[in-house]
Amino acid sequence: MIEINHLTKDYGDHRGIFDLTLNIKKGEVYGFLGPNGAGKSTTMRHIMGFSKADDGNITINSLDSWQDKEKIKEFTGYLAGEIALPNDMNGLQYLKLISKMRKMKSFDYADELLEYFKINPNTNIKKMSKGMKQKIAIVATFMHDPDVILLDEPTSGLDPLMQERFIDLVEKEKQKGKTIFMSSHIFEEVSKVCDRVGIVKEGNLIKELNMDALRNNEEKTYIAKFKNDEDLKRMAESYPNSIIGSEKELFITIIDEDINGLITDLSTCNLIYLKEKEKSLEEYFMKFYEGDGDD
Ligand SMILES: Nc1ncnc2c1ncn2[C@@H]1O[C@H](COP(=O)(O)OP(=O)(O)O)[C@@H](O)[C@H]1O
Ligand SMILES: [Mg+2]
Repeated sequence: MIEINHLTKDYGDHRGIFDLTLNIKKGEVYGFLGPNGAGKSTTMRHIMGFSKADDGNITINSLDSWQDKEKIKEFTGYLAGEIALPNDMNGLQYLKLISKMRKMKSFDYADELLEYFKINPNTNIKKMSKGMKQKIAIVATFMHDPDVILLDEPTSGLDPLMQERFIDLVEKEKQKGKTIFMSSHIFEEVSKVCDRVGIVKEGNLIKELNMDALRNNEEKTYIAKFKNDEDLKRMAESYPNSIIGSEKELFITIIDEDINGLITDLSTCNLIYLKEKEKSLEEYFMKFYEGDGDD
């Protein structure tokens, strides 16, 4: 559905995007992950045909991003990284204006989305917080039920609850068969919904990950707290890589396929609790940016 072939845009000083080749299938959710300045927004703007590439080309559903941008807009939703809404109207007026420009026949889905994100659209845009503006822009992106959806750091400015709602929305759109390309600098966000993730650094695609494969054989750390020190000591000895934390918690890192063995071993202990340790963003990033990441 989206084919990026050798896209190059050189802004000088190694800034921009270089020889990017990427294919996104119909119905796929693709995460574009990288730190600030990696070239994510540049790529998205080229997909939308807002900027002409120095080299390479992009097609969406076989239409050329640059030549056929008006046609592409009809079936595409794009949420910009830096949203700019007009200050002289309220949210509803803005959405109605956009829906008119798109010749939308129904405003039902827009109403549904306004409800879903708990937005009062009658507020003047000038008076809206960053998060509220972001939510209005999200509604504008989805309301015409586009087949292809480009989301540039979509959850920035949203509070955690709304971030979660947003991810649920992406999940729902995926169920409808939409093709979604979403950039982020937050691994966990893309890991939840994406089928594949491309990691971009200094304008280069350095790795593509198949999330299903990753999800099913991940290394995880579990934290176990024991009623007595004997169990703690015994388990620490059976798992030589484990670490005893400050609260006498045992941190045990295993790959998924060893989970049954761990449960069996733990069943012989007197436990207070067992929990999975959440991986920090940094841990994910370090893993993929350093080394080759193949493991
Ligand atoms: N129009 C432009 N002119 C010059 N440099 C630009 C322009 N747009 C982006 N850049 C530079 O290209 C690099 C990539 O930017 P961007 O695509 O916005 O990164 P990201 O979205 O991943 O944070 C940055 O160093 C940025 O400063
Ligand atoms: Mg950006």
